[in-house]
Amino acid sequence: MSDDAKTDQYARQAAGWSDAAYADGDAYLAHRAALVASLGVGLARGDEVLDLACGDGGLGEHLLARGLRYTGVDSERAMVAAARERLAGRARVELGDLNTFEPDRPVAATTVFRAIYYTDDRAAFFRRAATFTERKLVFDLNPRQYRVDDVLDELTTAGFGRVELRPFFVPQTKRLPLTAIGVLQALERSGPLARIALRMRFTYLVGAVRG
Ligand SMILES: C[S@@+](CC[C@H](N)C(=O)[O-])C[C@H]1O[C@@H](n2cnc3c(N)ncnc32)[C@H](O)[C@@H]1O
Repeated sequence: MSDDAKTDQYARQAAGWSDAAYADGDAYLAHRAALVASLGVGLARGDEVLDLACGDGGLGEHLLARGLRYTGVDSERAMVAAARERLAGRARVELGDLNTFEPDRPVAATTVFRAIYYTDDRAAFFRRAATFTERKLVFDLNPRQYRVDDVLDELTTAGFGRVELRPFFVPQTKRLPLTAIGVLQALERSGPLARIALRMRFTYLVGAVRG
């Protein structure tokens, strides 16, 4: 997709992005937020999360609810406007490109969801993120699209010395009863079974810890 087509697509979808993109946005984004707070190394109340390619800030709602501070950044003006409206007065949201954006002070955690493919040079992005990320970088990764070992090597080289990979099985486009979500979340921790499921569907959440 060309940059112009991508911009048009996200501009058109900005209002109500999270409601349209996730069949059960609350369940999906609450689980993602729980893992942002816990994966690799825990975050504490008051820690700041920088969410690059934040969309309409749907994740921000769930991180703020955990007592974390939130800054969202997106390259699409309409997404920034939607996120500012959603999070009014509770978070900063800025227009910026994840390939060049640098916060004015270091953050505890940086996140990139459904957007790691927008890095111009993924290894260079990891190295830059390490300069302003004090504790961890969290992002999602489709193991059928990327070689996980390549990504792990790039993270190590960038200074993220320990990486936790967590299968993420809450579906994006299907609303399930709570009991089924509970079963899927248990399956995320099932080791070999989870890895078999990942050959066909779903993604990893990657928690890459500094040092
Ligand atoms: C698939 S959406 C994901 C939004 C949100 N992170 C989520 O998980 O729901 C991709 C987002 O990346 C943004 N985006 C695309 N390229 C970008 C770039 N180079 N820098 C910052 N944001 C970008 C788009 O505007 C869009 O909001």
